[in-house]
Amino acid sequence: MTAANPSGVASFDAQRVRRNFPILEQAVNGRPLVYLDNAATTQKPSSVIDAIGNYYRRDNANVHRGVHTLSDRATQFFEQARQTVADFIASPKTSQVIWTSGTTAAINLVAYSWGHSQLRAGDRVLVSWLEHHSNIVPWQLVAAATGAEVVPIPVTDAGEIDLDALDALLDGRVKMVAINHVSNALGTVNPVQEIARRARAAGALVLVDGAQSVAHWPVDVPALGCDFYAFSGHKLFGPTGIGVLWGREELLEAMPPFLGGGEMIEQVAFPATSFSGLPFKFEAGTPNIAGAIGLAAAVDYLAGLDREGAAAHEEALLQRTVELAADVPGLRRIGNPDHAAGIFSFLLEGCHPSDLGMLLDQQGIAVRTGHHCAQPLMARFGIPGTVRASYSIYNTQEDVTRLFEGIRKAQRLFA
Ligand code: ALA
Repeated sequence: MTAANPSGVASFDAQRVRRNFPILEQAVNGRPLVYLDNAATTQKPSSVIDAIGNYYRRDNANVHRGVHTLSDRATQFFEQARQTVADFIASPKTSQVIWTSGTTAAINLVAYSWGHSQLRAGDRVLVSWLEHHSNIVPWQLVAAATGAEVVPIPVTDAGEIDLDALDALLDGRVKMVAINHVSNALGTVNPVQEIARRARAAGALVLVDGAQSVAHWPVDVPALGCDFYAFSGHKLFGPTGIGVLWGREELLEAMPPFLGGGEMIEQVAFPATSFSGLPFKFEAGTPNIAGAIGLAAAVDYLAGLDREGAAAHEEALLQRTVELAADVPGLRRIGNPDHAAGIFSFLLEGCHPSDLGMLLDQQGIAVRTGHHCAQPLMARFGIPGTVRASYSIYNTQEDVTRLFEGIRKAQRLFA
């Protein structure tokens, strides 16, 4: 294993990838674990676990403050991690990468800082019916405070954003369009580049929630043409509690700080305080140093994989799932997007989603059930929730087979 290729995997081979993830070796409820809850969080390769452990064992100190060697080392690793992430998303400048605790915090940062300073009564923020609550509620909070309005963009029965409806909504009142790159509930891959083009032509800014996309294929954020992009480390094989807000430099420069405290100031005085430049202006308090280092290790791990091969592998798993599902009477897929990323959401007639989830768990198969933090979308489809299988690079065709054995077993029990 080398630093550039910590996985040691030359071309894509899911069985070899699996061996880099120690948690997958265990049995759960007496059966080998089939982990299909990757949209909720991904598992971590040994290189990420080791990077975090080694940091605490050898390098732990606070960053940007001390004159001592450990502080210097921690600062170097922390800022190198920012550079690694900037390269990963093709950010023109490293300072456009703001550390946050995750996607939710990143969206809240924009909603509060940009929203409170820019939105006025009568302005509109468009979100889609596909959004996770974290890309709805922050906008509702800022709307309540400013008099702006949050308006949902309709989605089709296939679970895709209705682009004609978007066009009809894009008038001079719209100041922000906030959409996800991939729906966490249905797996829909949204045409964010096209949506950004239309929204910006109409004078609106565009925020993309990338929580569900970055793990599936390389994302060149500036090429998408959006203004803000947010994602989480833990859905990208990194640790929890770390995430990224990327923004266009001139927008970030113009935005006021969101949280105040240490690290984000230039000079504190009574009566006035001046603030640091980017990215520190938005990073009050001691940051999640180990988290940033762990996330960089995850990005390095991915860099060692054949990512095109990985994406094709995940697509093949989804394709097989769709084929097997067609043979299960009473199984209804929710949404049928043309382009989906490793997520299959469904209902089984006569079996409540949470009952099916528990029966699968008894067979060692982990799926998520419920509304997936997308209650408006569930209301749109007139359902309380779904069962969701979500795939990642270490899942195999054997996992798909096990899922359907489990579904058929549950069906026999409920017949
Ligand atoms: N947003 C995560 C999910 O969809 C937690 O499961």
